[in-house]
Amino acid sequence: MSFPPAFLDEIKERVSVSSIIGRKIKLTKKGREFLGLCPFHHEKTPSFTINDEKGFYHCFGCGAHGNVINFLTDCEKMPFLEAVEHLANLAGLKMPDQKPQNQAQENRFNTLIEIMEKACLFFQKNLFSPAGEQAREYLKNRGITGEIAKQFRLGYAPSGSQLTPLLKETNVSFALAQELGLIAKNQGREGYHDYFYDRVMFPILDRRKRVIGFGGRLMRKGEPKYLNSPDTALFHKGEQLYALPNALETIRKSNNAIIVEGYMDVISLHSAGFTNAVAPLGTAFTENQLQLLWKECDEPIICFDGDKAGRKASSRALLRALPLLKAGKSLQFVFLPDPFDPDDMIRKKSPEAFKNMLDHPKSLFYALWNMLLENRSVDTPERMAKLEKEALELIEKIQDERIQVYYTKEVKKQLWQLGREKKKSPLSFNEAQSILKPQKNTIEGRMLLAYLICYPKIAQNFIEEIASINLHENMLQNIKEKVLEKLFENPEISSNELQSFVFEDFEGIKLSEMEMLQKASKAPDEVIKDIEHWLHIYQVRSLEEECQRKVMEFNETGNESLWAEIQSIKNELSLLLNPE
Ligand code: UTP
Ligand code: MN
Repeated sequence: MSFPPAFLDEIKERVSVSSIIGRKIKLTKKGREFLGLCPFHHEKTPSFTINDEKGFYHCFGCGAHGNVINFLTDCEKMPFLEAVEHLANLAGLKMPDQKPQNQAQENRFNTLIEIMEKACLFFQKNLFSPAGEQAREYLKNRGITGEIAKQFRLGYAPSGSQLTPLLKETNVSFALAQELGLIAKNQGREGYHDYFYDRVMFPILDRRKRVIGFGGRLMRKGEPKYLNSPDTALFHKGEQLYALPNALETIRKSNNAIIVEGYMDVISLHSAGFTNAVAPLGTAFTENQLQLLWKECDEPIICFDGDKAGRKASSRALLRALPLLKAGKSLQFVFLPDPFDPDDMIRKKSPEAFKNMLDHPKSLFYALWNMLLENRSVDTPERMAKLEKEALELIEKIQDERIQVYYTKEVKKQLWQLGREKKKSPLSFNEAQSILKPQKNTIEGRMLLAYLICYPKIAQNFIEEIASINLHENMLQNIKEKVLEKLFENPEISSNELQSFVFEDFEGIKLSEMEMLQKASKAPDEVIKDIEHWLHIYQVRSLEEECQRKVMEFNETGNESLWAEIQSIKNELSLLLNPE
């Protein structure tokens, strides 16, 4: 890039050589010149001189010679353009050679960033003001410390439209603020009002940690739970990821990223030390976001919510990734138990339990095969053929030929195995895999026990069901027996009394589920719903376990009568899962 000589002269005129070099070495004034130790060679007595009037430096020892621009390029090794920019900036000069249009665009961009920054500071300030008390309490209840709140620059958008007047006071253009989704036009009358109000604010930062958008969460029930900034000149939802600037270093170091669904999941994971977690921004995970992560690591892990919606979103991410797979570049998957999300896993189970799942992610192929086998039987040649057809159609979407070849081989292998197993057992690949690692149904058991202790009056309506659950751990089983005994003696017993009776025998035992429940203080109908929910999960899991046991027994013994039993458990299961 060449600059008009007059512009460079102007820079040399305005920025003295001594002011720039004086930042690097110690100078002493000697008449009209400055003297110092030469930065270009090693010396003990000074022979380096600067003449500001003439605008150059000269070393009598090594012969180094130049003007203020040369000093930056030769001594500080700055690229020429950067040196000129730096000095022009110091001189208060505009860079000349840029096209006026680009310049205008850049100015506009910077202005937008400044407005977003202003809003972010406003929300942050509010969170720590008296108006933010409820929001602070909310965050605290969700396990977010002040430190994490600061790290993620969380804030609070107050009610009563307070950002709008602040923007006006500081001469921010309403047109721009509206474009950025910070304010909205009043309906049916003049003026504007705040877009976000009474919400906990999650700023979204770009790679350079500039605020480009917000997600705002309601603290009570209502719609939408999260309100997000619209797409703007700064904010492109499909191309950016929440918390990428916080996660980048760990992603690179560990060559791994965890992709979760929500803002809260990200924050919870970062608090628990999983600092490579990122999330899409209230939309599906896109091709762009995948490419972006692939620049930083090889096989990021999708870890969406364990509910139906989360499973579906995982499948969609898988289908999006298929055409783009390259040698060494893929996705992995962690499937959480229904209905947990990563935040629940950390808080209701434990960071260790979550880490254990993360350490054993499923491959993309595994997830694909599982997806294909879901809700289908392959017990006839025609059904097998259909499975094969669909599998191969999916694989055709892979653009990388080498990967396609390997996927095809793998599908053939799985089909062959399925054909062999079919004779012997009604096991799908899905089930076969889960048998390898039988899951214990302790979460739902523990939850039910916690409800029994915290809400004894309500839970007694379900006393038979709860009495019959198997808690898998002796200690818990003993606690349950003791609780039942006390309830039998005195059905009117209060939760507090119950706890003091029961826990004096089990010193040091803490049920984290119980502590959680105590904090939540739920309404009776909510409690009933919750208990029904956990009983349902318990029933499903116990049936699944029973089914697995029978299948294993069948595989070992070949006892044909087990076959009918397995089928009837399966029917029961499908009734439970699809009650209509
Ligand atoms: P979830 O509802 O699973 O959010 O939506 P969450 O993180 O578990 O929320 P908490 O724990 O109840 O606070 C996942 C993500 O989908 C987007 C948000 O990005 C959210 O984090 N979402 C959800 C929206 O954009 N709008 C909504 O109304 C709901
Ligand atoms: Mn969630």
